[in-house]
Amino acid sequence: MSQESMKSDFTRKLLKWNTAQNRRIMPWKGEKDPYKIWLSEIMLQQTRVEQGIGYYERFIKAFPTVFALAAAPEKQVYKMWEGLGYYSRCKNLIHTARTLVEEHEGKFPSTYEDILKLKGIGPYTAAAIASFAFNECQAVVDGNVLRALSRYFGISTPIDDAAGKKIYHSLACSLIDPVSPGAYNQAIMDFGATICKPRNPLCGQCVQSKECEAFRHGYAEELPVKSKSLKKKTRWFYYFLIEVGDSVYIRKRSGRDIWQNLHEFVCFETDKDAEYAPEDVLKKILKKQPFIIQSSSRVYTQQLTHQQVNGKFIRVAISLSGANRVLLEKKITKLLLTGAAGQDAEGAVGYQLVKKNTLHEYAFPKLIHAFLEQTYPPPAPAAI
Ligand code: ADE
Repeated sequence: MSQESMKSDFTRKLLKWNTAQNRRIMPWKGEKDPYKIWLSEIMLQQTRVEQGIGYYERFIKAFPTVFALAAAPEKQVYKMWEGLGYYSRCKNLIHTARTLVEEHEGKFPSTYEDILKLKGIGPYTAAAIASFAFNECQAVVDGNVLRALSRYFGISTPIDDAAGKKIYHSLACSLIDPVSPGAYNQAIMDFGATICKPRNPLCGQCVQSKECEAFRHGYAEELPVKSKSLKKKTRWFYYFLIEVGDSVYIRKRSGRDIWQNLHEFVCFETDKDAEYAPEDVLKKILKKQPFIIQSSSRVYTQQLTHQQVNGKFIRVAISLSGANRVLLEKKITKLLLTGAAGQDAEGAVGYQLVKKNTLHEYAFPKLIHAFLEQTYPPPAPAAI
């Protein structure tokens, strides 16, 4: 079969499969409101569909329009995003919602080129919004699409180098159905997610298998090829719970990383890929000042795409006896807080004492949230 016939066959069979067999149900499917499409697509970046559904539904309920999102307090939006990760997405979402209200009368631009100008929206999201909401012929190219195309056409060019990106983008553009680009885009994503899966693809029930190069030659699971193999970095965070009465020190993270604007306890990060004893970390900061470790948690871990994050939570007692007890307590607290700030590029301390029973109101990285759930569980809802 010629390449051109393979292409038209692929599109025709995909659309037929979509109407006859695709049973995938998701709350944003068939949605025409660009605001809701935008929300769902941002949420689904780096997030599994099953996890994204609950967040999407809660978001839409809390912020049914772009006006509601733009007017919402940041703290509330971050709290709702808590656990989804990659918090720059949330920051950009708030920024863009406000831009849309202030500069576009709350209306989404209606062309791919104009949508692409909005902060936090890249070619993939712009193509999804333009095709789903405005029926513009723009092909989405995500992991599902790359996998299906590399297998069907037997392409072994790495998907993540410049040559590969060009090949896949132009192939995807040549396959899209100009009559219903939105339906085509959704269909190929569903096809990749449910049939042409990364592991154990369902080739036995796939409508494309007869022409699929990878299936015919028995190498479906070896495609697609990536040039950069991911080397995961391990990071160790030591969080010190410095409690004063019924309060504890926390601060908002200001560093430009994936947890920007979330909160944390007094934190020391070691650059070594090894676990330290908490007392060694404390000795480094407090030098000769006495301290007592009241408790040290198990290691909490979180796997991210490019890193593994390990965290330990340590309660330090700084209540000392003797005449100058209060002074020493203050000195050690200051040493701990500024010792942590010493690692902060901006040098800003920014710690605040908050009541332990209000911790559930703040958004924390997943690792800290997991610890809090066990240590300071939120109050149970009042009985009705
Ligand atoms: N992943 C990203 N966008 C998606 C969508 N619209 N449907 C299913 N999976 C997706």
